[in-house]
Amino acid sequence: AKITFITSDNETIELEGTSGSVMELAVEHNVKGIDGDCGGVCSCATCHVHVKPEDMTKTGPASETETDMLELDDNADEYSRLCCQLEIGDSLDGVVLKVAK
Ligand code: FES
Repeated sequence: AKITFITSDNETIELEGTSGSVMELAVEHNVKGIDGDCGGVCSCATCHVHVKPEDMTKTGPASETETDMLELDDNADEYSRLCCQLEIGDSLDGVVLKVAK
């Protein structure tokens, strides 16, 4: 699946992933602002992204555990997801994710 990241410097990074989580893909390619400190267990929010509004159908909404984490983050909005919780697969193809500050 093709995943596009837009960093806080407005750099566009297009990556192609086949498996694993979006966070792992981003960390592997040093996408700025995605740290994945907790290793993908939904407890650090260093993998916070804002999904392009029209792409929410690809990602679906945040889970309850994610929402709990995101509530602690002032930059969170209704398009926020923790990208370690996004499994790479066909349904994500073409998704655009803005890396949260
Ligand atoms: Fe820690 Fe996603 S990597 S919440």
